[in-house]
Amino acid sequence: MPEVTTLDALARPLRDLRISLTDRCNFRCTYCMPRHVFGPDHEFLPRAELLDFDEIVRSARIFAELGVRKLRITGGEPLLRPDLETLIERLAALPGIEDISLTTNASRLTAERARGLHAAGLRRLTVSLDAIDDTTFRRIVDVQTPVARILEAIDHAVDAGLAPVKINAVIKRGLNDDQIEPLAQYFRHSGCVLRFIEFMDVGASNGWKLDAVVPAAEIVQRLQARWPLAPLDPNYAGETANRWRYRDGAGEIGVIASVSEPFCGGCSRARLSAEGKLYTCLFASQGFDLRALLRDGADDEMLRAHLGTLWGARVDRYSELRTAETAATRKVEMSYIGG
Ligand code: GTP
Ligand code: 5AD
Ligand code: SF4
Ligand code: SF4
Repeated sequence: MPEVTTLDALARPLRDLRISLTDRCNFRCTYCMPRHVFGPDHEFLPRAELLDFDEIVRSARIFAELGVRKLRITGGEPLLRPDLETLIERLAALPGIEDISLTTNASRLTAERARGLHAAGLRRLTVSLDAIDDTTFRRIVDVQTPVARILEAIDHAVDAGLAPVKINAVIKRGLNDDQIEPLAQYFRHSGCVLRFIEFMDVGASNGWKLDAVVPAAEIVQRLQARWPLAPLDPNYAGETANRWRYRDGAGEIGVIASVSEPFCGGCSRARLSAEGKLYTCLFASQGFDLRALLRDGADDEMLRAHLGTLWGARVDRYSELRTAETAATRKVEMSYIGG
């Protein structure tokens, strides 16, 4: 496929598409879907509102034609979407798509499912896991799943060849900052890449405050004190994580400093919600109704033109502009837009 580049108004290329398959999740992480907001009365998207697989594949194909090379499947919890493997297989076959990964809480990931995902063309998996201690884990996810279930699922993913498995740990001061070293200890020598994420003011329901953010520099300093680290170059331009390796050869970690060290300058990510709204920033309050175009019979050329124009006008760089006021504005939920 010829190299195509669609640039936004700040000269950032469109390279990644993150596709949310559902706004539902079987966890209720306090920083993402707190139960007092996402309780039994919460209205999730009805099935007919979700993009179907044909619509998702068509959208991804158009994005690939505009220069997208990486896809990430997210949610909510994407493994809740029936027949996900069929979708992966179709996405993996699209010309131009070089990388497909999936972000999951792994609670429903069996050995068989991990093998099925790999066979369908998935090559990488990221598992959200914020604690090694059961009590802390359950306090965060607000369900009774034991940590052992997630660790077992990670082993299944590794065995299926979804390597390196990345582990995403959101760190919130006073909630799980005591888990930094235990998580690192567990994943040293595992081949998995543990990444610590600063707690972000995404959505409107997680009660974000700046003093709950543990800056990445502090996390690195704490780890350094126990296991000397050396910096690594980014894997690719615009990578979210700053990479470090253990000097004793125990592997690699990352820190995602989206609050203390924003990375909007290289942001090439577009996000498609489960109902087909397109967002050009994680912190947007409004999306573009791609589903309406798809369902109104727009042809490929029309879709390419709309999406190209939309990306061309993009000036988003929320994390670089964050203030106490912006943090309090209403934004879409992460469980809806995808991580
Ligand atoms: P790789 O392709 O494996 O490098 O993954 P990634 O780091 O691009 O994606 P992942 O979903 O693992 O991102 C990790 C975390 O970084 C997310 O859960 C978010 O918390 C944060 N993140 C990812 N993309 C963005 C972004 O565009 N803006 C901000 N502010 N944070 C992001
Ligand atoms: N801040 C940082 N990361 C978050 N995630 C969800 N909510 C937040 C937040 N407020 C992460 C999850 C998961 C990914 C989908 O996004 O931990 O790894
Ligand atoms: Fe579910 Fe992930 Fe949100 Fe937790 S962070 S509630 S696992 S979507
Ligand atoms: Fe990209 Fe918006 Fe995140 Fe900045 S805040 S890195 S522009 S998604």
